[in-house]
Amino acid sequence: MNATNDILIIGGGIIGLAIAVELRQRGASVTVLSRDFQEAASHAAAGMLAPYAEQIPAGSMLELCTRSRQMYGDWTGKLENLTGLATGYNPCGILSPVFELPHNPTPLAPTSSWLNQTEIHAFQPGLNPDILGGWWHPEDGQVDNQKLVHTLRQAAKILGVNLQEGTAVQSIIQKSGKIDKILTQNQDYQAQTYVLATGSWSSELIPLPVRPIKGQMLALRMPTPQSLERVLFGPNTYLVPRKNGRLIIGATSEEVGWTPHNTPQGINALLQRAMGLYLPIADWTIEDFWWGFRPGTTDEFPILGPSAYDNLVLATGHYRNGILLAPITATLIADLITHEVTDPLLTSFNSDRFFPKSDFFPKS
Ligand code: FAD
Ligand code: GLY
Repeated sequence: MNATNDILIIGGGIIGLAIAVELRQRGASVTVLSRDFQEAASHAAAGMLAPYAEQIPAGSMLELCTRSRQMYGDWTGKLENLTGLATGYNPCGILSPVFELPHNPTPLAPTSSWLNQTEIHAFQPGLNPDILGGWWHPEDGQVDNQKLVHTLRQAAKILGVNLQEGTAVQSIIQKSGKIDKILTQNQDYQAQTYVLATGSWSSELIPLPVRPIKGQMLALRMPTPQSLERVLFGPNTYLVPRKNGRLIIGATSEEVGWTPHNTPQGINALLQRAMGLYLPIADWTIEDFWWGFRPGTTDEFPILGPSAYDNLVLATGHYRNGILLAPITATLIADLITHEVTDPLLTSFNSDRFFPKSDFFPKS
């Protein structure tokens, strides 16, 4: 038996790591158990910080997303100062071109502006001439999620988080309405508080309505790092130019369970849509293909906050926006655990919206 001190976090993707760093900075002793970083959605993502381009409906989810995006500059700046490593945070703005004109273009945000056909082609050369207009969201942006997670892992290590890579939690043992211990292949762990941050795999440990939604991705090499300098977010397709000249193109959205790998159909669809949006890419070099599993929930909102177990906190189901939502998730969950504040916003994301407390039993 290995009795961990204060907090034990299951899952070492961006959500588990961000919570670990935040709690450690507040003085807690923290252990993170994570099976495999390569399988994490955090590794596969595009890194867009895009509440407006993603058209999040007005309400608590949009508030969660915009608050998180506002935190991004400071949050990544502090991580960079602590580690000396980059995160690739880039508030470059996102342009959302359309092929069909909306009846009455109403901005989602006061800062977003509608560009008509002439304006959008002057603003962004290279777009398909059939594009009739689009939204410019200057506050949306991007982060290099792979760099960010590497930096978060370094931050966790520097701060003294006990990071156990390659450790799979096999089951969660409950007793009298509390988590008693968790079992791994090597040993058992106990803690005062447990956090479930296992992304798409969450329902393997706790019966939560989280399922994998596969996204296939590819990357091109731009002729120069300046070839494209803002994110293009078109219908079912986005192009995310990194400052190092890599162009991330995504993504499919597939209900295929845990079926792995890239497929000709998936990559063909991505390339067709991307070339149909932004013409210059047709002869750029293909660098890479990959895929990942978004942690989807039935209402597409994350599951955050208390569970039916006194000592288990949930931070999962971030679906398409987990990179964006990392700083706000870390802050709200750390506030809850350290009893500093319970933000009223958390109530919109409580797991009890799916089922009564009595239905909530872990698999053990
Ligand atoms: P993950 O990153 O999946 O990490 C979960 C971790 O838990 C994994 O490392 C796994 O090994 C570990 N784990 C699972 N089960 C166990 C267990 N039993 N024991 C121990 N460890 C376990 N979001 C954005 O904000 N912007 C984007 O542009 C964006 N693009 C995306 C594009 C694609 C193709 C995909 C797939 C996702 C995208 N997302 C994006 C969504 C975002 O990636 C996810 O919401 C986010 O990464 C979820 O983070 P997480 O830490 O909860 O889960
Ligand atoms: N947020 C982009 C995606 O999930 O594909």
